[in-house]
Amino acid sequence: MDSTKYSLADFIDVPDLDIMGRAQLFAEYAQDSRQRGHAHFRRISLDGSGPTMRVIDPLSGQVNEMIYMASNDYLNLTRHPRTIAAGRAALEKYGAGAGSVPLLGGTMDIHIQLEQKVAKFKGCEDAILYTSGFGSNCGTLLAMLTDKDVAILDLLVHASIIDGCKNTNVQHFRHNNMQSLERALNKAKGKRTKLVVVDGVYSMDGDIAKLDEIVELAHAHNAYVMVDEAHATGVIGPNGRGTPEHFGLEGKVDIVAGTFSKGLGVVGGFIATNEELVQLLHFYSRAYMFSTAPTPQAVGSLIAALDVIETEPELRAQLWNNINYFRENIVGLGYDIGNAETAIFPLIIGDGLKVRDMCRRCHELGLYINPVQYPAVPERLSRLRISLMSAHTREHLDKALEILEQVGREFAVI
Ligand SMILES: Cc1ncc(COP(=O)(O)O)c(C=O)c1O
Repeated sequence: MDSTKYSLADFIDVPDLDIMGRAQLFAEYAQDSRQRGHAHFRRISLDGSGPTMRVIDPLSGQVNEMIYMASNDYLNLTRHPRTIAAGRAALEKYGAGAGSVPLLGGTMDIHIQLEQKVAKFKGCEDAILYTSGFGSNCGTLLAMLTDKDVAILDLLVHASIIDGCKNTNVQHFRHNNMQSLERALNKAKGKRTKLVVVDGVYSMDGDIAKLDEIVELAHAHNAYVMVDEAHATGVIGPNGRGTPEHFGLEGKVDIVAGTFSKGLGVVGGFIATNEELVQLLHFYSRAYMFSTAPTPQAVGSLIAALDVIETEPELRAQLWNNINYFRENIVGLGYDIGNAETAIFPLIIGDGLKVRDMCRRCHELGLYINPVQYPAVPERLSRLRISLMSAHTREHLDKALEILEQVGREFAVI
């Protein structure tokens, strides 16, 4: 099969092929794709997340040291001495796993400590912990909304939010567009619960939700607001508390969701909101109720990660130095970065195949970044996605810019 004629989206559903037939067809696509050097996904690294990584080349098996610009570990807390030490101490004290679901014995004192710390950090009364960010979004929405309700979603919200709205009515509004939101709110009149859901920072675009306008508009229409802080926590707001802090809205957003896996450098998810809603979720969110509590190591590391964010603002300052330097230079090269304003940079190319080829060249030259294509974004917005960390040095940034300039010229996109 000639994989250049297809995209990943072509295998979401293949008419007339059962699941094993579909898997076989996809295997042929993946094999051809690998041979063309388009095997960007599930590359095997020999190191943890850091500014550089040793990565095994999928074709030659050779190990290459690459500048790693595809991580969500924005503050490098995965390897911070305090997160490692606290995780190790919790592992030794409480063991490797929680042993049970939270309602039936899996809740330890450190889980409560983390819940309280997250709630305070997010300016909310209480918080509930999940073992993944996907699970917290999806599990919470499934518990809150039924066919009598409506979720009003920005068109670019994360997949976990979309999946969480499978049992309810959905209205979409154009990305960050207030007229479109207002129209959706008007259409939602008469529904029992109206919930506007947005990402604080959008994962494929790096732009920030207009949360101040969204909250005002939603509340004026008696709708609640939920914001997913996955890529905002630790990154934006004067103290890294995220989008509500960035807009001076702490305590005014009804439901603050987030992941522990990105700026906090560990794994898991949370919902911070009022005490009553948290209590309801304890009993009605199936992803919480029927899933073993987060591991002690993760919880220990997360308590330390929140302490680091509060006491080492220099990490965030360094990240922002990197963001500002990179933005100025990448725009100077002539790349289109859309409305990116945080640590995530889309380089919009608009041609999925070219994006795959450019990505292959970047990998050959030692820069680990990812291609983003349909269905993650529309084909005309296919892009390379870059994310920065505080531990990237000026040398890493300059080398990456040099590679991107060379590749951009080779493919005549700049
Ligand atoms: C915006 C957003 N929300 C939620 C998630 C899910 O988080 P996790 O990876 O912690 O399950 C992600 C991660 O990919 C994300 O980008």
